Amino acid sequence: DLAPLNASKLQVTRTTKPKSKLPKEKLVFGQSFTDHMLTVEFDQGSGWGTPEIKPYGPLSLDPSACVFHYAFELFEGMKAYKDSQGKIRLFRPDMNMARFNKSAARICLPTVDGEELIKLISELLKLDQSFVPEGEGYSLYIRPTLIGTSSGLGVGAPDKALLYVICSPVGPYYPTGYKAISLEATDYATRAWPGGVGDKKLGANYAPCIKPQLSAAKNGHQQNLWLFGEEKYITEVGTMNVFFVFKNADTGKKELVTAPLDGTILEGVTRDSILKLARARLDPNEWEVNERYYTAHEVAEKAENSLLVEAFGSGTAAVVAPIKNIAFNGKDYDVPLVPGEQYGEMAKTVADWIAEIQYGKVDSEWSRVI
Ligand code: COI
Repeated sequence: DLAPLNASKLQVTRTTKPKSKLPKEKLVFGQSFTDHMLTVEFDQGSGWGTPEIKPYGPLSLDPSACVFHYAFELFEGMKAYKDSQGKIRLFRPDMNMARFNKSAARICLPTVDGEELIKLISELLKLDQSFVPEGEGYSLYIRPTLIGTSSGLGVGAPDKALLYVICSPVGPYYPTGYKAISLEATDYATRAWPGGVGDKKLGANYAPCIKPQLSAAKNGHQQNLWLFGEEKYITEVGTMNVFFVFKNADTGKKELVTAPLDGTILEGVTRDSILKLARARLDPNEWEVNERYYTAHEVAEKAENSLLVEAFGSGTAAVVAPIKNIAFNGKDYDVPLVPGEQYGEMAKTVADWIAEIQYGKVDSEWSRVI
């Protein structure tokens, strides 16, 4: 029988060289890390080994390890928040665990008991809790990672794997407050396709995204807008899910729209949270909340008829990223913002809803004190 992941077997080796902490204004996303990391090895013969928390430091792997050649890698992105009483809270960590396991199963890496991994992450957070910055917009970004470590160039299911978790203190994604972003629709590359792996958080999905991102940047845009197919369905923006708000000319209602989870869309925790909160809290006499297909042509037509109300990206890193402009088909479409501000009303509303849960200002089973 293979040993399951077992948090009670944890061994802890504390650092003898605690790092000095950056002032929180100096934090850059993913550039500095806490004192410790969690590692657990998996072996096909015996299962999950002893979980270890030890000083943050380099890994040693055989150059033929399958992660380097065939992209046996997946990751999660989640955050820990310090509340006003100094308690550390995780936001919907069960969602990250479920996605971790879906990603692992897809690339023949071992799955874990999510609650055991949450316990282990919680121990890491307790040890490194002084790294969790205080204040709205500040958090500790947590990066659970799973790699295949089998050596040898044969292509097959890895018989060895390494699960590790590192943590990076982060500030607001936009330190000067929101800065609405401008998008360039990408017409020559596809992020994901039916039957592909775009719904899994595999590292291999991210490397091919940089080139379209660079061409968007060259043309003065901050992110690219991912389209799919001849119809030019809107799927995602950069590394985020994306929402639009339309006005229905016939009913006068507003519609909050995002693409459906058909296998080509990353199953974002923020995306899911926005949909659930919007469905629970928006007045159905004034709002429709829809997961449906919609195209860049539809957005262009809505923009031309003053029926485009706003748009924003959603993800763990930025939470929401308001959009101010979309370049598509040789034209530039302005996306409305609140006059004088860098966000639309709904972007601000959902960002506030989520933040008050994350920082424990309102009671919610989505926020878990460690
Ligand atoms: C997110 O949290 O929005 C991301 O996907 C960003 C991460 C890949 C850095």
